Amino acid sequence: MPGSLLRRKAVEACQADADRAEHQLKRSLGVFSLTALGIGAVIGAGIFSSPGTAAAGGGSHVAAGPALVLSYIVVALACGFAALCYAEMASMVPVAGSAYTYAYVTLGELLAWIIGWDLILEYAVGNVAVAVSWADYFKSLLAGLGLALPDWLSTTLDHARQTPGLLAAAPHILGVPIVLNLPAGLIVALLTVLLVLGIQESARVNTAMVLLKLFMVVGFIGVGAFYIKPEHWTPFAPNGITGILSGASLIFFAYIGFDAISTTAEEARNPQRDIPRAMIATLGICTVLYAAVTLVLTGMVSWRDLGVGDPLAKALQSAGLQALAGILSFGAVIAMTAVLLVFQLGQPRIFMVMARDGLLPAWAAKVHPRFRTPYVTTILTGIFVGIPAMFVDINEAIEFTNIGTLFAFVLVSVGVIVLRRTDPGRHRPFRCPGVPVMPMLSVVGCGILMAYLPFITWMRFAVWQALGIALYFLYGRRHSRLAKAA
Ligand code: ALA
Repeated sequence: MPGSLLRRKAVEACQADADRAEHQLKRSLGVFSLTALGIGAVIGAGIFSSPGTAAAGGGSHVAAGPALVLSYIVVALACGFAALCYAEMASMVPVAGSAYTYAYVTLGELLAWIIGWDLILEYAVGNVAVAVSWADYFKSLLAGLGLALPDWLSTTLDHARQTPGLLAAAPHILGVPIVLNLPAGLIVALLTVLLVLGIQESARVNTAMVLLKLFMVVGFIGVGAFYIKPEHWTPFAPNGITGILSGASLIFFAYIGFDAISTTAEEARNPQRDIPRAMIATLGICTVLYAAVTLVLTGMVSWRDLGVGDPLAKALQSAGLQALAGILSFGAVIAMTAVLLVFQLGQPRIFMVMARDGLLPAWAAKVHPRFRTPYVTTILTGIFVGIPAMFVDINEAIEFTNIGTLFAFVLVSVGVIVLRRTDPGRHRPFRCPGVPVMPMLSVVGCGILMAYLPFITWMRFAVWQALGIALYFLYGRRHSRLAKAA
């Protein structure tokens, strides 16, 4: 491989870029806001929607049954190993850009580009899935208030084709039926405006939403616990380890987001200390909540009946708690708004850092003179997420997101091992314990979860990678700032 593909950016250069006045973001986030951002990204569709398909099976997934609680714990372990690696990297390279920046410092330009390209799957495609789930809950919330949206304005063409009568009822233009998920597109548009206006305001809105959603989740556990019928827990693992890992490969989505904290390194007041702490706190809090929610859920309703998009609300309904089910749907809408916000915030910052490095065009790095936000990439992200959200299926978007994110986790973990060898003397404010065993466990854990994803997802991932590599050779390789300096 030619040496230029392995050229690495110096940690000092990353820091210097971040410090350059014209690019500077506002440093306003402390450990509490960072943990809130993490929880804001983490608790969402992965606990409000995915346990349905994961417990009952569906699509290419084998039912986990009540053993879904083990799926959440297995994934938490894999993410925990990866989080320690992320924390070490984030504390050494405390600038925005997340895994992309870490890879640029450790693994070289080509792999950095590939990771940056895969982070689009995590942030932008992940948000497509969350926007679709948001729209589902929003629709049932409106329906509960007696405001039914027409079906053709709130579903996908695929779903409409399988629903008798829906296509015929949709308006037609030149003989083509018009079917789209309008609420999914509108929520993305609204959040894009909020994010262009400023990080400080967005973080405050986020903290309030996070408190509300913690209240909802804890409320579900507290109330639901009284309606558990232990007989629902047998058989505990109807499909054994296959079911548990198949479920795990889907609900991995529920943990995505703790790493988003590291994309705000340039907006944190004390990134070295606060980012690792916030990541680990986020993961710990969410694991406990997820395990409790899953146990209560599969105890309230037979896992066979959970194959719906809103399993938590369904469990409350089946216990006769209609009003609480409505309140929970409202909570889910809020929860997923918070997720959307954090991911819409992370993606533009990654684009911005890639543009600073010359791997994307320079205009993408522009920071708004008054709002001090990366407004060009924020608006572009809004368009890239909002439009597909109106047309795609949620589980396919989740699987595509999971494979890209898991791959990025693998590369970051390898990066920790590499950098310990190539640059042992560098100050590491946070050190991942047990290197190289811990990062290797992360690689193995993430690898197993990837292996349980459907074949079609692997195919899509291969095409995505090929496209990314082609773009690098067509643009990034020649325009890279490191290339020009050389
Ligand atoms: N973890 C996020 C969610 O579950 C992406 O919605």
